[in-house]
Amino acid sequence: MRIDILTLLPGLLESYLQEGMIGRACREGLIQINAVQIRDFATDRHKTADDSPYGGGAGLIMKAEPVAAAIKSVKRRKKARVLLMSPQGRTFTHTDARRLAEDRHIIIICGRYEGIDERIRQKYVDEEFSIGDYVLTGGELAALVITDATARFIPGVLGNEQSSQDESFSAGMLEYPQYTKPRVFQKMEVPEVLLSGNHAQINRWRRTQGLLKTMKNRPDLFAGLQLTEEDKKEIENNCD
Ligand code: ADE
Repeated sequence: MRIDILTLLPGLLESYLQEGMIGRACREGLIQINAVQIRDFATDRHKTADDSPYGGGAGLIMKAEPVAAAIKSVKRRKKARVLLMSPQGRTFTHTDARRLAEDRHIIIICGRYEGIDERIRQKYVDEEFSIGDYVLTGGELAALVITDATARFIPGVLGNEQSSQDESFSAGMLEYPQYTKPRVFQKMEVPEVLLSGNHAQINRWRRTQGLLKTMKNRPDLFAGLQLTEEDKKEIENNCD
């Protein structure tokens, strides 16, 4: 998969894309991620990428021509999917990440300033995503979030193939608590069942804990879960 991230601040992306699992996936050729400076596509002497809004008002708007030229420069395949990062977009989810991981080429436009000329949305953008109900200073963090969450679904990117299946959200619920050595930390003990070696009991305990955590932290997800009779009994017995 190839991801082109169009931005006015490519330096913001660099270290994130070079280190950790994403950096390794790039070096191994599993994904190719490229930061593109939009300003390089401005044609005037001052390399102007933004201007004041028609109709008046505060702030600057990203100009259409440099963004359009930057998209054109990376769009080799007709089928590239163009995403716009903005607080006006639909909230990005786990399901979107899994779907985008099937694409061969994604182009991500990072908004800055007060917004982007609407004609870029009209003509070029396939999907507009927000990463949450708050306003960031620009779309770069959102582009990194979407790149990271999507890359995890590309085979080979995670060391352990199982982990993108097992974790929170895959089953519409949150993950159970995890422990590692030592067995006692500041007088707090690892739950006995995890030391039992009884995998049926461990799986039951993990599911119950995941359900309890979902009920407490994400009642919206909990409402959509299909509970078995055993689940209901376990929840009743473990609620305080
Ligand atoms: N740009 C500014 N705020 C944003 C947000 N919440 N999500 C995506 N892009 C943004």
